[in-house]
Amino acid sequence: MKKIKAALLGYGTVGQGIHEVLHEHQERLRILLGKEVEIVAILVQNPSKHKNLPENIVVTTNFEEIITLPELDVVFEAIVGEEPALSYLTHALDKGVHVITANKMMFAKHAKSLLEKARENDVKIGFEATTAGGTPVIRTIEQLLQVNRVEKIEAILNGTSNYILTAMSERSIDFKTALAEAKEKGYAEADPTNDIDGTDAFNKLMILSQLIFNDQPAWHKVEKTGIKDLTSTDIQAAQENNKKYKHIAVIYKEGDQLKAEVSPLLLSSSHPLYNIDGVDNAIAITSNIVGTITLIGPGAGKLPTASAMVEDLVAIFQHEPENHSIHQYKDQAAV
Ligand code: HSE
Repeated sequence: MKKIKAALLGYGTVGQGIHEVLHEHQERLRILLGKEVEIVAILVQNPSKHKNLPENIVVTTNFEEIITLPELDVVFEAIVGEEPALSYLTHALDKGVHVITANKMMFAKHAKSLLEKARENDVKIGFEATTAGGTPVIRTIEQLLQVNRVEKIEAILNGTSNYILTAMSERSIDFKTALAEAKEKGYAEADPTNDIDGTDAFNKLMILSQLIFNDQPAWHKVEKTGIKDLTSTDIQAAQENNKKYKHIAVIYKEGDQLKAEVSPLLLSSSHPLYNIDGVDNAIAITSNIVGTITLIGPGAGKLPTASAMVEDLVAIFQHEPENHSIHQYKDQAAV
């Protein structure tokens, strides 16, 4: 049987999650895609830390060694920051290799050029995991955009911030302790600055903007505030007034202008995002035909993020021309 040959770029929380999901669900993927998915290589920072990986997997610090492997079909990218991720993915697309990324910082800035490059090279980029973790917001918006015009997004896009605000409010713990918990649970970035200063939610909002409006507002004109200056006193005062602070990202079009803002807002209980607690993200999508749809789900974490990336893999490969196995799967399910 032909195989789908995949490489993992990065083997931290998310990379390991992808490995785990591919392994545990290999039979289902084989039936869906008509092919086995095989991890042939993993890019790591320190190979001596990963001695327990199977011997048939190339474990290397050198991307060249990976991209020159024969018949590589797809790379899953789960590394942090703009470079070297951008160079790696550009190289992969140029070689005709599909790309699945969770890198919101890089993709917010380079979505346009990378998507153009993918089109030129007749390959796909899956980026579901860049925004709202395991919640399928990208796929839902792509589906809506076929006929609807999306007019506005109002969203909670950073799981760490929502986790901290919820913990401070429900358990009266302080900011530092709540952040330490979010790190421990694998929600926060290794350096959580972008989580708590609003940058991470901003990056995700820019990815949604690119998808929905095929454009982004001038970054310097977007007001961006994080939750880092909210104190326990602020949170308690809100609670005493039956209100909650939530970190909200908004984008809409006013005339020809895109207007966006990312900031903590004091919500009353009638607001649709008031009840979104813990690590959950929520995205209220307002479109001209359907009205408002709100998606709620885990916005961070190993398995939710891996889930989004493996769903991207299925979306890419089940539409490969030679693939007829979805029918096979449906036939099997019907028996
Ligand atoms: N640190 C991010 C968050 C991870 O807390 O939302 C998911 O992008």
